[in-house]
Amino acid sequence: MPDVTIKVRDNGPYLVRGAITLTDVEGNVFAIEGADVALCRCGGSQNKPFCDGSHKTNGFAASQRAAAAPTEVL
Ligand code: FES
Repeated sequence: MPDVTIKVRDNGPYLVRGAITLTDVEGNVFAIEGADVALCRCGGSQNKPFCDGSHKTNGFAASQRAAAAPTEVL
């Protein structure tokens, strides 16, 4: 079992479970309370990179499944 799992939620955020270090673009570390964190993927959160529940009311829809992992990080 991996130490960290990331679950893609239909029509919602990425749910990260496990101890991680999350930084902004300048390398500043976000303090994360608890073992789970939800990261916005709808673009609507007013508290990015965290999900604030906006996906529930902004019409975000994403339930497609990836065919395969990409071979490089873009
Ligand atoms: S995924 Fe929840 S606010 Fe964007």
